[in-house]
Amino acid sequence: MKIIIAGAGVMGSGIAISSILAGYETLVYDIHDAALQKGSAYIYKDLEASESKGRITQEAKEKALGRLQFTSKREELVGDLIIEAVLEKLEIKRELFAHLESINTDSCILATNTSSIPVTQIANGLKKPERFVGIHFFNPAQVMKLVEIISGVATSPDIATAAFNWAHSLGKTAVYAKDAPGFIVNRVARHYYVEGLKLAEEQVADFKAIDRLCEASGFKLGPFKLMDLIGVETNFSVTSSMFAQFHNDSKFRPSRIQQQKVDAGHFGRKTGKGFYDYET
Ligand SMILES: NC(=O)c1ccc[n+]([C@@H]2O[C@H](COP(=O)([O-])OP(=O)(O)OC[C@H]3O[C@@H](n4cnc5c(N)ncnc54)[C@H](O)[C@@H]3O)[C@@H](O)[C@H]2O)c1
Repeated sequence: MKIIIAGAGVMGSGIAISSILAGYETLVYDIHDAALQKGSAYIYKDLEASESKGRITQEAKEKALGRLQFTSKREELVGDLIIEAVLEKLEIKRELFAHLESINTDSCILATNTSSIPVTQIANGLKKPERFVGIHFFNPAQVMKLVEIISGVATSPDIATAAFNWAHSLGKTAVYAKDAPGFIVNRVARHYYVEGLKLAEEQVADFKAIDRLCEASGFKLGPFKLMDLIGVETNFSVTSSMFAQFHNDSKFRPSRIQQQKVDAGHFGRKTGKGFYDYET
């Protein structure tokens, strides 16, 4: 089974690690050469770290890396399962899937890792929307166990089952969800970010204090450290998308503080600056 991952960013790289470690030939595609280089460096470094911590053997690492390839050529994206993890923009995803559908056979499963765009909406316009499904990983994808399998209005039950089984074969805990704003986890978790940002905006406490309190109460990362990890701009676009999908329900209203971080290009760890500063 050949896996194609479109997008070599934070999520695409993590999904690729899970895929090659589970034994799948995996081709990673990105439109930008710099992103391919960065993704490749991240994957090699992550596997090195796993080896040095004794989580995998040197042989397993080398075999996994032997299954990994990179490309920036769209015409090479022919496989059995294609997982898209490009920017969270509907037009970009739709345009990419129209191309993928045109060069792959009918048996190829098309999947999106979108956090917030309705799966049904991305599938609209495909000739065979029934083979389209959401496979939603969490960040870092090679670590987090949970994967949501999202059926759009047209998704065939067989395709959802195949996606579920593939995620299970990576050692993941897969759960089925229907297409709804934010699916399950992002809807529940949205208030962690939105309320954290409101507290900071209202100057109830500064962001570092909010993080410290949340972490002291048992959360692994406070909301601001988590936004920096996810990507401030990605998190912002998910909130914006959910706000729109819930017909401007104020409880999902995006924050001005977060908007300003996005406007400044302070996207978090990936740019070296977000709510916190990082070494790049
Ligand atoms: N970051 C998270 O925590 C997270 C979690 C779950 C799902 N997601 C979703 O995964 C997807 C990717 O998010 P990310 O955080 O990895 O973003 P990212 O910005 O780290 O990576 C996106 C990559 O897509 C590439 N790209 C842009 N346009 C492209 C195109 N037309 N063709 C091919 N590649 C293109 C960019 O060069 C970049 O490398 C988004 O849909 C996002 O909502 C993100």
